[in-house]
Amino acid sequence: MTHAPQFPGAPVVRREARDKVAGAARYAADVAPPDCLYAWPVPATVAAGRVVAVRAVDALAVPGVHTVLTHDNAPRLKEPDDPILWVLQDDRVPHHGWPIALVLAESLEAARTGAGRLLVSYERDEHDVTLTGDHPGLYTPEEANGGQPAVRERGDVDRALAQAPVRIDATYRMEAQHNHPMEPHAATAEWADGHLTVHDSSQGATPVRESLARALGLDRDRITVVSEHVGGGFGSKGTTRPQPVLAAMAARHTGRPVTLVFPRNQMAEVVGHRAPTVQRVRLGAGLDGVLTAVSHEVVTQTSTVKEFVEQAAVPARVMYASPHSRTTHRVAALDVPTPSWMRAPGEASGMYALESAMDELACALGLDPVELRLRNEPETEPDSGRPFSSRGLAACLREGAARFGWHDRDPRPAARQEGRWLLGTGVAAATYPVLVSRSSASAATDGGGAFRVEVNATDIGTGARTVLAQIAADALGTDPDAVRIAIGSTDLPTAPLAGGSSGTASWGWAVHKAATELAARIAAHTGPLPAGGLTARADTEEETAADSPYARHAFGAHFAETAVDSVTGEVRVRRLLGVYAAGRILNARTARSQFTGGMIMGIGMALTEGSAIDPVFGDFVAKDLASYHVPVCADTADIQAHWIDEDDRHLNPMGSKGIGEIGIVGTAAAIGNAVRHATGARLRDLPLTPDTVL
Ligand code: MOS
Repeated sequence: MTHAPQFPGAPVVRREARDKVAGAARYAADVAPPDCLYAWPVPATVAAGRVVAVRAVDALAVPGVHTVLTHDNAPRLKEPDDPILWVLQDDRVPHHGWPIALVLAESLEAARTGAGRLLVSYERDEHDVTLTGDHPGLYTPEEANGGQPAVRERGDVDRALAQAPVRIDATYRMEAQHNHPMEPHAATAEWADGHLTVHDSSQGATPVRESLARALGLDRDRITVVSEHVGGGFGSKGTTRPQPVLAAMAARHTGRPVTLVFPRNQMAEVVGHRAPTVQRVRLGAGLDGVLTAVSHEVVTQTSTVKEFVEQAAVPARVMYASPHSRTTHRVAALDVPTPSWMRAPGEASGMYALESAMDELACALGLDPVELRLRNEPETEPDSGRPFSSRGLAACLREGAARFGWHDRDPRPAARQEGRWLLGTGVAAATYPVLVSRSSASAATDGGGAFRVEVNATDIGTGARTVLAQIAADALGTDPDAVRIAIGSTDLPTAPLAGGSSGTASWGWAVHKAATELAARIAAHTGPLPAGGLTARADTEEETAADSPYARHAFGAHFAETAVDSVTGEVRVRRLLGVYAAGRILNARTARSQFTGGMIMGIGMALTEGSAIDPVFGDFVAKDLASYHVPVCADTADIQAHWIDEDDRHLNPMGSKGIGEIGIVGTAAAIGNAVRHATGARLRDLPLTPDTVL
């Protein structure tokens, strides 16, 4: 056995790359068996009220239409673990787009045609879908997303602000943003001998199985959930969505396998969204730029179905030293779809506001914005007082400034021009917490010097198989090619979802532990291996449950150069450069892809992604990728991701932090700050569409 050194960070190519480009990788709707029925969901067209009647006769007359399921005839659910899964159970319509019927047919075309012929009558209630900063329904929740306290207060913020020689008081607004993974939310469900098998496009088959067991009142041993290949999720597939529940109900009702793909133009109202926010940030500082007061007050929306509170003020508890601090969240329950996770929930929204405000402070002081941040580096985590396990922000700012050429910058606004283009540069910091969940995994000898590793991880496009093989190979002293990896099924050792940038840390920890134990068994074994080979199973319950005395976060710095068309108001991002301190990077190729993917999503957040909701009809106006604009290749001129190697012993055995989300954190602020530098105009509301820039 040869041992090619794979750590740290060999840029191993994704194992499934060829299958994906050759069309051999199978996604949740690709597994539809020949006798399956195709389902077309029917969304509510009112924002509040109830379904009075569904007239299905014309739909059922369409050739190929098999059944129409509504709350009158759909199988009854037990109480689900998430109220958004309570579909086709009663006549209530909590928001526009809520699924009120499912048309099942022999072909997708027939199902869609049938859905168009359903006649649905409603009793309408008044609705309210418009979030304002002073909405009368605002209340302070017990906690924000992630179990964070809604309110934290240290010192006397009002007094410190009143006494501060320099003050910033600014309000930032952003519209809803949508997760639009390339692969829509899809499921194929089949019952056989009382056992349910669901192929679901999810970020974690384990939680989907739990949801199905709860919703269907079924023992989890009678459910298999497979998420073999997943075409992105960005958080929207991190919690169970209605498609596996609807497909399982329909398959039970009809006795046929059922496949369901949410049409793109229904996704915005079904898969969660980044909630709109109104964020007021107040900063007080001395003339030297040292902060004396930080106040970050967030207003956001949830639905009437359940409470979800975007934790946008949470990063202000981590970022800068200040003796006086207030971070609050208030929320109003509107007749809107339930918001949920979208890449870096909390941090992405909150750091837009905080890092824009820091830029405003730098401008007010006439101080370089990199220097301002360096002057406010805390010794310990500001709110908790815990020491950082490692904090690479200053190093990222310095290295980024050097790589970007920041120090040649003329700080005066609107000082650089190229024809009709105004040029400017901006900087913003990034942070994301280090999260980890318990996981299990197994490792076994697999004949001929090969190994087999099993873990119910999910690859949502990140390269999870590849990096897990690297981790196992390192522990086994072998080459990654000698490690076979099985992921993406509840038949494998239980593991958490791909979310919170915690997948590699969680699965990898268990894989590392199982592989290390297997290596020890092999070393201790004398004579030939037994016929069945050697196996080791590992569970990380104890390690991950231990509360760390350290504050653990990844950090980063984003630098942007923008060109603003002084005639049309168009903003082009010419350069975007990020430097990250995220522990050990385990695979340079796939990590770079995660970082730059987040940065590109940040371009969308800054410039094009904003979803207005129609106050009269209560629906999101931009329902597809022709109207909701995400960045394309032409928007991504020069994007660079770099990192600083950190040797942090207070993490997992691989020494890694999460990397999936930090790329989007602060990116929009860096771009907005660059637009301000280019034009002299401070724009606070996202996205920075041409009409707002002019
Ligand atoms: Mo990510 S938004 O935690 O799936």
